[in-house]
Amino acid sequence: MGIKIGILGLGTVGAGTVQLLLDNVGRHPLLKEVEICRVGVKSLDKPRTVELPVGIITTDLEAIVTDPQIDIIVELIGGIDRARELILKAIANGKHVVTANKAVISRFGAEIFTAANQAGVYVMLEAAVGGGIPVIQPLKQSLSVNRINTVMGIVNGTTNYILTRMQTEGSSFDDVLADAQQLGYAEADPTADVEGWDAADKIAILASLAFGGRINRDEVFSEGIRQVSKTDISYADKLGFVIKLLAIAKRCSPVSPSSTPTLSVRVHPTFVPKTHPLASINGVYNAILVEGEPLGQVMFFGPGAGAGATASAVSSDILNLVAHLKSRQNSDTNSHLDPLLACSHQDYCQIAPVSELEARFYARFLTRDQSGVIGKLGTCFGKYGVSLESVVQTGFQGELAEIVVVTHDVQEGKFKQALDEIRTFEAIHSIPSLLRVI
Ligand code: HSE
Repeated sequence: MGIKIGILGLGTVGAGTVQLLLDNVGRHPLLKEVEICRVGVKSLDKPRTVELPVGIITTDLEAIVTDPQIDIIVELIGGIDRARELILKAIANGKHVVTANKAVISRFGAEIFTAANQAGVYVMLEAAVGGGIPVIQPLKQSLSVNRINTVMGIVNGTTNYILTRMQTEGSSFDDVLADAQQLGYAEADPTADVEGWDAADKIAILASLAFGGRINRDEVFSEGIRQVSKTDISYADKLGFVIKLLAIAKRCSPVSPSSTPTLSVRVHPTFVPKTHPLASINGVYNAILVEGEPLGQVMFFGPGAGAGATASAVSSDILNLVAHLKSRQNSDTNSHLDPLLACSHQDYCQIAPVSELEARFYARFLTRDQSGVIGKLGTCFGKYGVSLESVVQTGFQGELAEIVVVTHDVQEGKFKQALDEIRTFEAIHSIPSLLRVI
């Protein structure tokens, strides 16, 4: 008996998934067991790139998630409220769910996984982070014997494309964004990508899996790339760095058997040393670096979006579920949920506020060209315990001198206090840039 699936959404990823499932020669033999029963769309009039038998496509998405024949619902409509509602309804009707929806999982994962565990069904989300890169299953399975200390990555292709072009062409953010929109690498409304919200959704999911606890999405700090200027990219280059939008989840507390860890979970443009493994990830590509004990570092790299890549991740989840359902069909017992496929975290991780974290910073000052300015900066930083790694004055912006500093590790709160005092100095015109360094 085949495994019947209902797909919600026939956009780029939906069409890619249908195409992959229908063209199953040379792929895993279990894919032949998949039967696409219903496909839900917004409008029947839209031209489609995939051919499906008549009668399969419907605009009645409710009918799909409640259809007693269907075993697996594949949610690919995106958005938040409607997707959440349909996922919960599918679970309530005993269906397993495959979704690519990071926005829903990062915000409503606790509700969805609680419902799924009670209903005895799986919710699979390989495509929600890193597009085609397999990182969710590795974190749940192959890497789960490690004590993970850090997960960090470039998980947004749009911003990586923009920053890469700014770096290679010396262009401004606004010019590259406009071009990226024309070429289809950035959405007409690019807010979620350029403000770092999409990356924040993704790191919340990765952190939850890596550190074995729930993450409150509202506590994930995010700063986008709008304020990254070509001047900063050029200084970064001279100082031996590239600027990347990094999503970082790091353990801040020692490993303890009795409590969920305290973490730092954040997204921000970051000075990355050119020798760092993430520095060479360019264009729309994504990469996720996981550091654990005893493994050390492992990096996942590949296409973070696109029809084929994301369809690969969606279909791998479908395949996992098909394998599970077939083995159930072939055994007499109604087995319990496999803990390596399910998600059963109960407790929330503590998230440390960024102001309490230690980090290195890059700051760019525009100052009046007077004697003693660098000395005054140094004295003020010293007063707040901020130790400087380098101070450079190379350029001028009109009449104003440009001074760039890179700090050693400092507490963010102390660094900001020093900057507040520096802003009051008569010689200081402005502090146009402030970026974190790893
Ligand atoms: N907007 C996302 C990106 C697509 O640019 O990476 C995949 O989530």
